[in-house]
Amino acid sequence: MEIKEILKLADDLLVAKTGKHLDYLQEAILRGTLEGQTYAQIAEENYITEGHVKDVGSELWKLFSERLGKHVSKVNFRALWESGQFYSISSSFGRDVGRVGRDVGRDFVAVNNINICQEPHAKPTGTQQPQETPPQLHLDLGDAPELFTFYGRTSELTTLQHWITEDRCRLIALLGISGIGKTALAIRLTEQIKTHFDYIIYRSLRFSPPPDATLTNLRQIFCDKDTPRSSETPLSQLLNHLRKYRCLILFDDVQMLFSHRQLAGQYKSGCEDYHHFFQLIGEVSHNSCVMLLSWEKPRDIAKQEKENNLVRSFVLEGLGVAAKEILSYQNLTNEASWQTLIDTYQGNPLWLKLTATMIQELCGGRVSELLQYDTIILDESLQEQLDRHFQRLTEGEQKLMAQLANEPEPVALPQLCQTSHLSPAEVMNAMQSLVRRFLAGTQEREGATFFSLNPVLKQYVKNRGLS
Ligand SMILES: Nc1ncnc2c1ncn2[C@@H]1O[C@H](COP(=O)(O)OP(=O)(O)OP(=O)(O)O)[C@@H](O)[C@H]1O
Ligand SMILES: [Mg+2]
Repeated sequence: MEIKEILKLADDLLVAKTGKHLDYLQEAILRGTLEGQTYAQIAEENYITEGHVKDVGSELWKLFSERLGKHVSKVNFRALWESGQFYSISSSFGRDVGRVGRDVGRDFVAVNNINICQEPHAKPTGTQQPQETPPQLHLDLGDAPELFTFYGRTSELTTLQHWITEDRCRLIALLGISGIGKTALAIRLTEQIKTHFDYIIYRSLRFSPPPDATLTNLRQIFCDKDTPRSSETPLSQLLNHLRKYRCLILFDDVQMLFSHRQLAGQYKSGCEDYHHFFQLIGEVSHNSCVMLLSWEKPRDIAKQEKENNLVRSFVLEGLGVAAKEILSYQNLTNEASWQTLIDTYQGNPLWLKLTATMIQELCGGRVSELLQYDTIILDESLQEQLDRHFQRLTEGEQKLMAQLANEPEPVALPQLCQTSHLSPAEVMNAMQSLVRRFLAGTQEREGATFFSLNPVLKQYVKNRGLS
């Protein structure tokens, strides 16, 4: 029996038992088991821990054991199918499946409860089908964090929604320094625009998976009824899916594809083919949108957005006045000082959360007590967050950061070239890279561009003894 058939019947079994279809991970475990993979290999392919795969696997074997009335495990799963024991019970499922199929034929499927093997907008099977079934959304948010609170960002949501649903952008980079709220905004956005899509998929690239692994992982989600033609490459198969369905794919932590100690946006060895992938997403005609969330502007985007209106980048700034909700949630007092606190910490939700916790623990929640010192106080975990940025810089960039940290006012390029020990070309490349990493700010004045560090970064450089 073909693996595809076994998976279909296993799915029917699960529906009859639990009312739910196989989710993405369950299917990956069954497929891997049938192909002789170990739990460790399945975990690696799906970017999750082996322990989690084992837990989900043992839950599955338990369900199948109960249904079959016989011990089922990873070891005997294939043999039981081959000996026909599963098939004898699965053939009696038609009516059950139809009933449950209608139940799940809703327009929204819970996180990780994706109905992988149905065509979009497919009518459920069964005896008493309704005439019209609402379109079905396949939502696979993988390991996306759950949003407990979300404040503000109304204009950002409106702009991004417009870019995606009206302008039909194909490739969007959502950029900004760590903690500014890229992931939270993207997740909130998906809730707002979910009805426009057949598939919404979130994948973090934090472990720098090779491009082939990412493509394979995505292709498995689009469990296509048309067997892919052998002449098609994995990338062209994926592009076919992006044409056939309207998909929103969020790739988070894209900066992890780029090298440490090199200027911003240079792919690590083994990740170079993402360049080709992202370029094609922007260039070829399809119905879908891919969003890249990153600390650094990918070079592909920097180049493409100049000539292709369907490729854009959105730089996320501080949360602004809505950040007061974060302070209120943490029960801080001295409300008159809140705006100063927000301005000092650049409206960065993570920086504010960490600082608010410190104010709560050390100052009894009184904001003005923290603000009375001459220097900006940085919580140790905030400094560790910034270490992760600083460690990525080239030597030239680190030198310029140190130089900028000592400047009381923004500085123009000629002045930087004079005072640093770098050549003008090195200064320019390093400054461009710092700007692409959102570490240096720019302002235009009197016909010149001036560069500066924000007060938190200045303080960080001083605290770490780097200036
Ligand atoms: N609009 C918001 N309202 C409330 N909390 C927010 C908001 N935006 C972000 N946060 C919170 O701030 C923290 C940082 O946000 P998030 O993880 O989205 O940042 P990020 O830009 O994705 O950071 P990184 O690049 O390090 O992944 C999280 O705890 C998140 O829940
Ligand atoms: Mg994030």
